[in-house]
Amino acid sequence: MKEATVQLPRQMSTLAESIDHMYYFIFWVSVFFFVAIIGAALYFLVKYRASKHPHSTPPGHHDVLELFWTFAPLLLLIPMFHYGFKGYVKAMVAPSDAIEMRVRGKQWAWDFYYPGDTEASPSELVVPVSRPVKMTMSSQDVLHSFYVPEFRVKRDVVPGMYSSVWFEALEITSKYNPADNKVTGEPLDLFCTEYCGTSHSQMLAKVHIVSEEDYAAFIAGKDRPPEGKPLAEVGAELYKKNACNTCHTVDGSPLVGPSFKGLFGKSESFADGSSVSVDENYLRQSILQPQAKIVKGYEGKNMPAFVLKDWKLDALIEYIKSLK
Ligand code: CUA
Repeated sequence: MKEATVQLPRQMSTLAESIDHMYYFIFWVSVFFFVAIIGAALYFLVKYRASKHPHSTPPGHHDVLELFWTFAPLLLLIPMFHYGFKGYVKAMVAPSDAIEMRVRGKQWAWDFYYPGDTEASPSELVVPVSRPVKMTMSSQDVLHSFYVPEFRVKRDVVPGMYSSVWFEALEITSKYNPADNKVTGEPLDLFCTEYCGTSHSQMLAKVHIVSEEDYAAFIAGKDRPPEGKPLAEVGAELYKKNACNTCHTVDGSPLVGPSFKGLFGKSESFADGSSVSVDENYLRQSILQPQAKIVKGYEGKNMPAFVLKDWKLDALIEYIKSLK
């Protein structure tokens, strides 16, 4: 069974098959007992109805019956526990040769860090096929939860501690194109599955599974600025990719933070009473150290700090400048 069923999405990791077997075993055992118990109840309801049996005469004691219903469930529960625990341990302990990546949840985006990275790659995770990948997860603010249904992987991302998941993808979904430095295809969805604030439902990311060669090429090329594209356009892409759009609009309406429309050059007043005319340096500081200057009326909105390469800052600022 590889394809999606009515209840479960298609199996895309090595963990999925045994988890689904366990799930369907428990499901059908439950269906069987539901039908048997409700069926017996209905049967007795009719058979011992008050018009035929006005007085109840239950047996006082029946050793065989009592022993049977005490020990029969054990025969079902022992294998459930055994296979459940085995599967749990397998899902918890990553193979020692796994590629180690990090993921950080924040309101409201997923930041991925490939091995050795100090700068985040937001919203899009690229992993090689048929290689175990271990994600060490942390949160920058509140409780989030990392969930990729096709991988059968779901785990809370907790502030102040690390948690981890691992998976080994079964099939290629996407291709890396070195010419425009992009990964395209039909990626899997990654959800945040713990309510974490007003934009929780938009805290989404994509998981691209690529061939081993594509993965190596992607890692080698991922921090290269795109060529032959206007800087503001690159900035517009980064604005979406870094999930700036979950808090800042570009049409003038306020959201969690101030809108970017008409921001550049305008005079901004701060909570401490000072003000500044918005220029490149103010924008740069507001991205790297968002708490340095709090715009009046936006006190207590804790924008997370971003770590971005200079060309990315240049592009974002150019984009904001273009939003007249
Ligand atoms: Cu993060 Cu919901």
